[in-house]
Amino acid sequence: MKVREMTLDDLFGVLELEHVLFTDDAWSEDTYRSELADPGGTRHYVLAEDDGVLAGWAGLAAVGGQGDVLTIGVRPELQGRGVGSALLTALLDEAAVRDCAEVFLDVRADNDRARRLYERFGFTAVGVRKRYYQPSGVDAIVMVRDSRPGEVPARRGVDM
Ligand SMILES: CC(C)(COP(=O)(O)OP(=O)(O)OC[C@H]1O[C@@H](n2cnc3c(N)ncnc32)[C@H](O)[C@@H]1OP(=O)(O)O)[C@@H](O)C(=O)NCCC(=O)NCCS
Repeated sequence: MKVREMTLDDLFGVLELEHVLFTDDAWSEDTYRSELADPGGTRHYVLAEDDGVLAGWAGLAAVGGQGDVLTIGVRPELQGRGVGSALLTALLDEAAVRDCAEVFLDVRADNDRARRLYERFGFTAVGVRKRYYQPSGVDAIVMVRDSRPGEVPARRGVDM
């Protein structure tokens, strides 16, 4: 498996998987086009390929020393083989290159596999956005990974 930068040429393959994986919450083609255009130079999108087949993709925003994992997805039949871990590693490596002391993300409260992945990488829950995902009404859990030694992430939001 190879992880490389994502380009506009990858867009249609990614959009197809986006709809399979995220259904109600799927990003549009326009959203991806503006993300990949990246006029502010704050984005980093990567793609994993397995024998030339699109296995997954992920995106990071890095602004003012703060990183945000914007998206991560793995082809259903290739999940559970380390693709998600490889993509997240690539994003966190880039966050370090861009001097991000903290990396944040939102994850659906009912997404156990994703939450386990993030916890394995040192993310901890620091807040809840109540009924953030619509129309399902599922909460978003805000997680953060602090790369500064000895730092304890501050709690954000309510109900933790
Ligand atoms: C969440 C997601 C990105 C994780 O990707 P993934 O490729 O399945 O992640 P990994 O394979 O690295 O890790 C998943 C599991 O496989 C296991 N695993 C990793 N490498 C493995 C290997 N070589 N052999 C066997 N198992 C392995 C991990 O231990 C982990 O186990 P767990 O789920 O019991 O904790 C993926 O499930 C996905 O695309 N989900 C749908 C979209 C989504 O929810 N995105 C996140 C939005 S916040």
